[in-house]
Amino acid sequence: METVKVTASKEYTVHIGTGFLNSIGEKIKGIKRLCRVVLISDDTVFSLYGEKVKKSLTDSGYSVVEFVFPHGEEAKSFENFEKILEFCAENSITRTDLFVALGGGVTGDLTGFVASTYLRGVDFVQIPTTVLSMVDSSVGGKTAINLKAGKNLCGAFYQPIAVFADCDVLNTLPRETFNEGCAEIIKYGMICDKDFLAFLQDNSIKENIEYVIKRCVEIKRDIVNRDEFEKGERKLLNFGHTIGHAIEKCSNLTISHGNAVAIGMVIATKGAYEVGMSEEDYSDVLLPILEKNNLPTTCDFSAEDLYKASLSDKKRSFDTMSVIVPEELGLCKIMKLPVEDLQNFIEKGMN
Ligand code: GLY
Repeated sequence: METVKVTASKEYTVHIGTGFLNSIGEKIKGIKRLCRVVLISDDTVFSLYGEKVKKSLTDSGYSVVEFVFPHGEEAKSFENFEKILEFCAENSITRTDLFVALGGGVTGDLTGFVASTYLRGVDFVQIPTTVLSMVDSSVGGKTAINLKAGKNLCGAFYQPIAVFADCDVLNTLPRETFNEGCAEIIKYGMICDKDFLAFLQDNSIKENIEYVIKRCVEIKRDIVNRDEFEKGERKLLNFGHTIGHAIEKCSNLTISHGNAVAIGMVIATKGAYEVGMSEEDYSDVLLPILEKNNLPTTCDFSAEDLYKASLSDKKRSFDTMSVIVPEELGLCKIMKLPVEDLQNFIEKGMN
């Protein structure tokens, strides 16, 4: 098993390997003494892996209660947040107990936010089950739920005590969900690792999945260690995300996060070249890698719709928006754009 150590406000290890879900209880016992565990999962993931994880935890001596919710991005709601908090209180969960998030980004974000607020903070472990959550959302401590105005607008920075990524679970992922995660993988190459980008040009992500996940987690770890609370450098991880979130919002969440980020990266890359923020049009390199991984590169929304949907983005300050754009191949930079110029930037990026 490969490990990557994060040394942010909390130190923890990301474990990447195969075949250890059956013994997850013993793994967790290495970092957390016996207690009650609130296992949180959606109905799809729980039906595949919930009983296995529960049995392993129980066999190791933990006492487990589970909260299972209907799958989908809509689950990151105040309603669910409140339901889980009330469930924990009804079950007399204490501050020394443990939350375990078993699932993709929705489950991890929601569980992490519950863990950060219930009794002012309870330990939590991430067991990501999608490519996207393994390479991005389970690491780095961003937790959130959605508001009507946009995604992830209510949340906290709250690090897990460990992350366990068992790549075997990716074998049951629908192909579309696997591909979605590839957008975040390609993002890492674009923002800060030219060699990794070249690797992605020449190699299959699927055939090299353990190496790819580890490399992405290492890149994210380095950025989070330097800038946990996103005062600067961490904003790079949002490459493609401002426009991506707008696409998700305009589609009423019918376009998935990874697909929206793929399109968002293309618009940001082309837009940056067209408005003179990038010297070259790096979409020539980006587009074939996205296409090779069956990711979309365009959408039908107007620049005006995307602009309006972007206005509640967290990267906006009073009159400017931070945009992440390529500086050179395999290196992005953070630029400030006057909010009134954002629509033109998007429009140019869509042509
Ligand atoms: N997903 C972006 C970040 O964790 O900062």
